[in-house]
Amino acid sequence: KRQPIVAIDGPAGAGKSTVTRRVAHELGLLYLDTGAMYRAVTWLVMNSDLALDDEGAIALLIKDVEIQLTSPNAVDLPTVVHIDDKEVTTAIRTPEVTANVSAIAAQAAVRGKLVQMQQQWGEKGGIIAEGRDIGTNVFPNAELKVFMTASVEERARRRWQDLQNQGRDDIDLQQLAQDIQRRDELDSNRAIAPLKKADDAIELITDDLTIDEVIAKIIELYQQTI
Ligand code: C5P
Repeated sequence: KRQPIVAIDGPAGAGKSTVTRRVAHELGLLYLDTGAMYRAVTWLVMNSDLALDDEGAIALLIKDVEIQLTSPNAVDLPTVVHIDDKEVTTAIRTPEVTANVSAIAAQAAVRGKLVQMQQQWGEKGGIIAEGRDIGTNVFPNAELKVFMTASVEERARRRWQDLQNQGRDDIDLQQLAQDIQRRDELDSNRAIAPLKKADDAIELITDDLTIDEVIAKIIELYQQTI
């Protein structure tokens, strides 16, 4: 029998990555950042001469694509990402990639390819995966499903603070809120595997919770479930 699977889904900027990384560390689970995979493919398309909406050509481009995800030893560092042997860890976090990722993630060939990889990596379980469609589509039989949300205002405020901490003091909070809302709308309204709470997912509204409280809650849920 396979090891347990935990699915963490929710809209942009809900704090999924920080929380999921630390829970993975605490519970000794493999951490899978599926958003990083959609970002890597978006980066690849943007650095090719293909148009973002040329689905047929993009399907060919990624037919045999290789993506490698490596978790650094330090728990708070993002996943190191390679696509076709190019290191794109920071390149996939630019505002330009962020603005285009939903359009790429809506394409059938892209989702087909990446979901297949994710399911292969998760085959033996012992994994906590973070994304938009993990509980509904990638691992519908996950033992624990959490849907993490917060208001758009709170998510924008947190993102703004993160950027501020990285020395970016040129970011407009209202603009950030608009971008987050737009990405949520695109992700929620696409035809294939849209952002949606799975029926059997536990909703965690994090506006009034600290990161440590969210982590403690998920670990408690895990111990109750497994
Ligand atoms: O989580 P992150 O912000 O890195 O995700 C980037 C984008 O990748 C999302 O806005 C969404 O378009 C796409 N995505 C997805 N399915 C997932 C994870 C991410 O469509 N499971």
